[in-house]
Amino acid sequence: LGEIERLVITLTEQLTIPLITQTCFRSVVLTESGPAFREAQPLELPRQESFVVIKPLLVGVCSSDVKEVSGVRLHRHDFGHEIVGVVVHANFKGPLQPGARVVYDPHVKLARNSGFSELVVAASTPEALESAFFRVESALNVDKLVFLEPMACIMHAYGNLRAQTGIGSILSQNAGPNTMSGGRHLSLGIVGAGNAGTLAAFYGKHLGMAVTLINRSQERLSFLQRTGVFAPGEMMLSSNLKKDFFDIVFLATSFLAPEVVESGLNMVKNKGAILLYGGTTPGMAIADVDLDDIRRTERHAGIRWAGKDILLIGTHGALSADFHEAYDAVRKHPESFPFEHLITNRVTLKELPGLLTSMGRNPDHCTGKAVVEF
Ligand SMILES: NC(=O)c1ccc[n+]([C@@H]2O[C@H](COP(=O)([O-])OP(=O)(O)OC[C@H]3O[C@@H](n4cnc5c(N)ncnc54)[C@H](OP(=O)(O)O)[C@@H]3O)[C@@H](O)[C@H]2O)c1
Repeated sequence: LGEIERLVITLTEQLTIPLITQTCFRSVVLTESGPAFREAQPLELPRQESFVVIKPLLVGVCSSDVKEVSGVRLHRHDFGHEIVGVVVHANFKGPLQPGARVVYDPHVKLARNSGFSELVVAASTPEALESAFFRVESALNVDKLVFLEPMACIMHAYGNLRAQTGIGSILSQNAGPNTMSGGRHLSLGIVGAGNAGTLAAFYGKHLGMAVTLINRSQERLSFLQRTGVFAPGEMMLSSNLKKDFFDIVFLATSFLAPEVVESGLNMVKNKGAILLYGGTTPGMAIADVDLDDIRRTERHAGIRWAGKDILLIGTHGALSADFHEAYDAVRKHPESFPFEHLITNRVTLKELPGLLTSMGRNPDHCTGKAVVEF
């Protein structure tokens, strides 16, 4: 029986490669003149390296994809990275067997084509590929899984908060309500009610913190209220903010403009902490602290602001451990993470270039999450 099994496996492998190498697939690629739909991309399999071929089921459109299209994402290029897919082929043994459902972790180094494709070929070492394509159960809905990568970044940010402040023991997942020693809930103000801020609010609530999601304009708050994921009392317009109100402030706007950081400094309490999550550009500084450097290198710095001592904490990206933590939290507590309600736009690959271009022109009116279906 063992020999027959081996023969079947060998034959299957020999058959799979010629079949997939003859395949052409549809894709959206980023060209110098913008995102472009390609009807028939030939499948190019790497000759020497280990590789996997993934068939995406759903790919999320991230604000960083829009930044790449607009040419304002300077340090990283991850076009189409929020991928939930199925393994079609791997040229090495291990857990990435055909049929395995995976979520992509873009923080692992590998070479790949655009994630907005009917097939994604990724090449690296087997260990890196196994780490980059995180295996998930088929039982979890793809609409939930497509938020796993952004959620891992949020988990990572909370991890940095735990590491840099004295609230580690309070902010421990599954530890029950997070209260200060006097019985008061830790108060968390999240600035920016885009997808990042919304996921951060889900997790803060899951941890038992008293969360207020803050936005400069009404549109996104009204959307979140309509979907029912937050009660009106959990959201606020920036114009209604009170000074010295929150223990922790999480800044999740598209760019951490000086006025956004200043508003965070004003609303946090003495001895409070501010998480720098939203985008920064080189040269951004406040109170002689280089915000871009702090964020990218994930360092922290104490500053004095209006008579208060405040800790600024940088956070950037996610690690494999954050994916595991995010997956565990979503699997065990799906009700705390109603991601699927955030999907507002489902497009085909052919429609994607038009959507990306219009999102780039009008980034402030992209309420909810757009996804590409196949
Ligand atoms: N640190 C990390 O590891 C990490 C990981 C992923 C993403 N990010 C970053 O997180 C940020 C947010 O991403 P997202 O997907 O949530 O973006 P998004 O959906 O486009 O939301 C952007 C939010 O920023 C607000 N905003 C923009 N400019 C503002 C300003 N000048 N003042 C006040 N609010 C402003 C918008 O408010 P309106 O509704 O009023 O327009 C909106 O609420 C991006 O910079 C992204 O690159 C960081």
